[in-house]
Amino acid sequence: MTGTAYGVRMRVLVTGGAGYIGSHTVVQLVAAGHGVVVVDSFANSKPTVMARLAALTGMDIPVHAFDLTDIDKTERLFAEEPFDAVIHFAGLKAVGESVEKPLEYYENNLGSTFSLVRAMRRHGVRFLVFSSSATVYGDAQEAATEDQATSATNPYGWTKVMQEQVLRDVARADPTMRVALLRYFNPVGAHPSGTIGEDPQGIPNNLVPFIAQVAVGRREALQVFGDDYPTPDGTGRRDYIHVEDLAAGHLAALTRLASTDAPVSTWNLGTGRPTSVLQMLHAFSRACGRELPYVVTARRAGDIATSYADPSRANAELGWYAERTVDDMCADTWRWQSANPTGYPDA
Ligand code: UFG
Repeated sequence: MTGTAYGVRMRVLVTGGAGYIGSHTVVQLVAAGHGVVVVDSFANSKPTVMARLAALTGMDIPVHAFDLTDIDKTERLFAEEPFDAVIHFAGLKAVGESVEKPLEYYENNLGSTFSLVRAMRRHGVRFLVFSSSATVYGDAQEAATEDQATSATNPYGWTKVMQEQVLRDVARADPTMRVALLRYFNPVGAHPSGTIGEDPQGIPNNLVPFIAQVAVGRREALQVFGDDYPTPDGTGRRDYIHVEDLAAGHLAALTRLASTDAPVSTWNLGTGRPTSVLQMLHAFSRACGRELPYVVTARRAGDIATSYADPSRANAELGWYAERTVDDMCADTWRWQSANPTGYPDA
C-alpha cells in the first residue's frame, strides 16, 4: 500500500470482477491508480468481458478463473500475491432461483466468504469491502437506515444477512480488520462508452434489463407486475442507482477503510429517491426514442411496494453522492444494449 498525492494506492483483489458491478468497479480502480487482480468463476459472466476491460483501462488485468469455494485455490492465490484489500462481489444473486435451490445459495455464498476471509486472515489482508444488499432490510425498505434491524424474505436475502453477521463477528474477534458492508439498492445503467454493461443469462429477472431487451427487440412487451400497490401510479417503486455511482461508492469506501478506526462500517448506497415501474419505462422510451409496449399482470410473489435508501450516512462519512439521474441510467443502458443486442460475445 503506498500513499500518494492522490490518496492511498492499494493492490486490490476483486472477486466477481467480470460481473456487472465488479467490471465497472475494476475500471474505476485502475483509473484511480490501484493495482487490480480479478478472480471470477465465470458462472454468470463471460471471459470476453476481460478484453473490454483491457480496451477501457489500457491494461491487461490479471484474472484467475476459479470458484472461491475452492479453499486450496483461494489459499494459493493469497500465497502468491500480496493483496492489501479485497472487494467481494462474487456470489449467486437471483431471488427466485434461491427459493428453488436454497442449498446452492447457502453453500456458494457463505462458502466463498468463509474461504476468502480465512485466506485474508492467514495472509494479513485487513481491508474488505463486501457487496451486501437492501434485501437485508426485509420488508422494511422505505427510507431504510443502516441501524434498522436486518431480516430477509428469501434464501438469497438470508445469505446476505448471514454473510454480514459472519463479517461482523470476524472483525470483533480481530479488531485490526476493516470491513465495509455496502448495502446496494437497485443498480442499473452502464459505462458511458457502451462497451460494458449488464448481461443477464436467460430471461432477465430485473426491470431495467428486461425493458432494455424489449427496446432492442428481443422481448415483446414489459410485464408490469401489479398496478394496485399503494404508490402514486400503483406500480412498485425502487431506488435505482447508476452503476457508475455505485462503483464510485466502492472506491470511497476503500479509501475510508484506510483511515477509520471502526472495524466494521455499514453504508447504504442509493439515491434516496424512488422511481416507479411506469416512470422507468417512460424514461427508457425517451432514451431509445419510441414508446415501449407493456401489459399489466399480477403482482410478483415476494415484491414490496416501495424501497429506497436513506443514503445520508454514506454522504456524510464518505463524501459520496449518487449523482446520475434516471435519464442518465436509461441513456447509458440503451447505449450498451443497442451496441451489444445479445450481450457479450461468447469468444
Ligand atoms: N418489475 C416488473 N416487471 C419485470 C421486472 C420487475 O414490473 O419484468 C418490477 C418489480 O415488480 C419491482 C420493480 O420492477 O416493482 C423492480 O424489480 P427488480 O426485479 O428489478 O428489482 P427488485 O427490487 O425486486 O430486486 C432488487 C435486486 C435483488 C434485491 C432486491 C431487494 O435484484 O437482488 O432488489 O433489495 F434482493
